[in-house]
Amino acid sequence: MPIMPDAYILGIESSCDETGAAVVRAGSEILSNVVASQIATHQPYGGVVPELASREHLRAIVPVVRQALAEAGQTYASVDAIAVTQGPGLAGALLVGISFAKALAFALDKPLIAVNHLEGHIHAVLLEQRLGGEGELNFPVLALVVSGGHTHLYLAEERENLWTYRNIGHTRDDAAGEAFDKVAKLLGLGYPGGPIIDRLAAHGDAQAVKFQASQIKHRDRRDHRQDTRQGEEMQPPAQAVGPDFDFSYSGIKTAVLRYVETHDLKPAIAARRQALAGISSPTVEELLKVCDRQTLNLIASFQRAMVNDLVAKTLAAAREYEVRTLFVGGGVASNRELRSTFEREAAMQGLPVYFPPRALSTDNAAMIAAAAYPKFLRREFVAMDFSADAGMALR
Ligand code: KG4
Ligand code: ZN
Repeated sequence: MPIMPDAYILGIESSCDETGAAVVRAGSEILSNVVASQIATHQPYGGVVPELASREHLRAIVPVVRQALAEAGQTYASVDAIAVTQGPGLAGALLVGISFAKALAFALDKPLIAVNHLEGHIHAVLLEQRLGGEGELNFPVLALVVSGGHTHLYLAEERENLWTYRNIGHTRDDAAGEAFDKVAKLLGLGYPGGPIIDRLAAHGDAQAVKFQASQIKHRDRRDHRQDTRQGEEMQPPAQAVGPDFDFSYSGIKTAVLRYVETHDLKPAIAARRQALAGISSPTVEELLKVCDRQTLNLIASFQRAMVNDLVAKTLAAAREYEVRTLFVGGGVASNRELRSTFEREAAMQGLPVYFPPRALSTDNAAMIAAAAYPKFLRREFVAMDFSADAGMALR
C-alpha cells in the first residue's frame, strides 16, 4: 500500500482529563501538539471527577483545536482527515471530542477516523521510533500499555497497514498508575501521584522496605469473565489456557497503608497534606522539605517493587511469545526508573525496547493522529452515526 507523505491528520483526544488536539504529517511528523490539562480542576478531589471533566472539555475543545491548527500552519480546510478517540474512557468526556470531530468532518466534508485510545498509546512509541530514524520494525511486537486506567499487554502484528492486537495480560484490579496515584494520596503528596513519586524515589533507599511477592499477586489462571472494573471486554475463551501474564496492584497499596499504620506515620502525613495544600505544583525541593527519611525510603521501595513487577512480567511474556520488539507506552511509561530498568533488562534478553518521548507518554492527541494514519491509508473511515465506546476493547 502506498504511503502518503503529505497526509495531514488533525487528531482530537478527550477520553479523560486532558483536552488534546494535534496535527501530524504522515503519521510521524508532529506539526503541533496542544494539551489543555485539567489537573488543577481535579486536584482538590485527589482524582478525576467525570462531570467536571466533561465541562472542562467543552470549555477547552474549540480553542485547543484552533491553536493546534494555527501552530501547524494549517486550516480547517487544509487538513486531510479528522481523527478522534472513540474509547475507552469516560463516556461524557469522549462525547465532547467525538461531537466536535463529527461536526468538523460534516461541515468540511472530510473523512473521519475513530481511534482506540490504547492504540494511540502504542503508536506514540512509533512516533519516537520513526523520529529516531530507526530501520524496519520487527514483528511480533509486545506492547505494554501502562497508565492510570490500564496495565495491559498486547501482542501486535501489522500487515499492509492493518494493525491487529491480542490481549495476553491485564490488571486484575488497580492499574499501575492508579496505584502510584493512590499511594501518593495516602502519603499526603497530592495528585497525580506518579510524577511526584518518580521525583522523590531517587532520594530514598529502595531496599529499605521489603514488599512480599504475595503483595503483588494475581490469580494463576484467567477466567474469561467480563472485567467490569476496567470496563473492557476480555478476549473470548481460548482453546487452551496459556501462561498468565496478569497484573495486580491493589495488594501493594494495602501494604503501604499497613506500613503507615504500624509505623505511626499518620500525624506526619496530616502535617504534609496541610503544608502542601496551598501549593498547586510543588517543586521537588518543596516536597523534600516535608518528607522524612522513612517516608522517602517507603516511596523508593514502593516504586522499585512496582517497576520490578512490571518489567519481570512483561519480559516473561516476551520470552513466552518469542516477540522481536518491545513497546512501553502510557502515562507510567514516563517513569524514569521504569525506563532504565526496562532498557537494562531487555538488553540482557537481546530485545529492542522503545518508549514514546516522555511528553508523549501521557494523554495527547499526536498519538491519536499517528494511530489514525494506517487507517487513513486503508481508507478505514467511520460513518456519522458512530458513537463513544467507554469500554472499547483493542483487537
Ligand atoms: O496515559 P495517562 O496520561 O492517562 C490515562 O490514560 O490513564 O496516564 C496517567 C497516569 C497517572 O496515573 C499518573 O500518575 C501516571 O500516569 N504517571 C506516572 C508518571 N507520569 C504519569 N507514573 C509514574 N511515573 C511517572 N513519571
Ligand atoms: Zn491514556
